[in-house]
Amino acid sequence: MKITVINGSARKGNTYTAIQAFLEGASAHEIEIIQPDKLNIAPCKGCNACGCFKGCVDSDDTNPMVNQLVESDLIVFTTPVYWWGMSGQLKLLIDKCYCKGAQLKNKKVGVLVVGGSPLESVQYQLIQTQFECMAKYLNWDLVFYKSYFANKRDDLQNNAEALQELKALGKNI
Ligand SMILES: Cc1cc2nc3c(=O)[nH]c(=O)nc-3n(C[C@H](O)[C@H](O)[C@H](O)COP(=O)(O)O)c2cc1C
Repeated sequence: MKITVINGSARKGNTYTAIQAFLEGASAHEIEIIQPDKLNIAPCKGCNACGCFKGCVDSDDTNPMVNQLVESDLIVFTTPVYWWGMSGQLKLLIDKCYCKGAQLKNKKVGVLVVGGSPLESVQYQLIQTQFECMAKYLNWDLVFYKSYFANKRDDLQNNAEALQELKALGKNI
């Protein structure tokens, strides 16, 4: 499978650790990582020139990024929790997927979320519900959704059980 992982965190912290553990398991596949904070992507202006299939009129990194997703069999969205939701850089990129939304239907999708509060927090349910709505809209097969509690930069690195689970997730994909 062609797997594209979108890293919604700009720091080499818990989301990065989760991705590395997942990729260790998924090493048999073709992997690309998109790092939104390293891209030049303007926010969606809602001009609708794309008609949800033509691509974006912006001549920044939007179209190459969306084309990478269109060519993927599995898209893994990963994010730290920021203000009870996904990070701004991930949301900005998802907004720009509107320009080829029609070609992003029927994908396999996975979601990894890392937050600084325990898993009872409503934030994980809020983010999960948002992805479930997107999945329903675009007929995605939501193959996994996993949340982890890790706050300090190296917290997840010290959680052997989580790392094992993430590796197995990648291996069994
Ligand atoms: C701007 C900002 C907002 C945050 N908001 C939340 C929040 O609403 N809930 C929470 O549990 N943690 C919040 N956190 C903590 C991060 O989710 C947590 O530290 C996470 O492990 C960061 O992941 P990273 O190491 O991959 O960047 C916030 C952190 C930042 C920088």
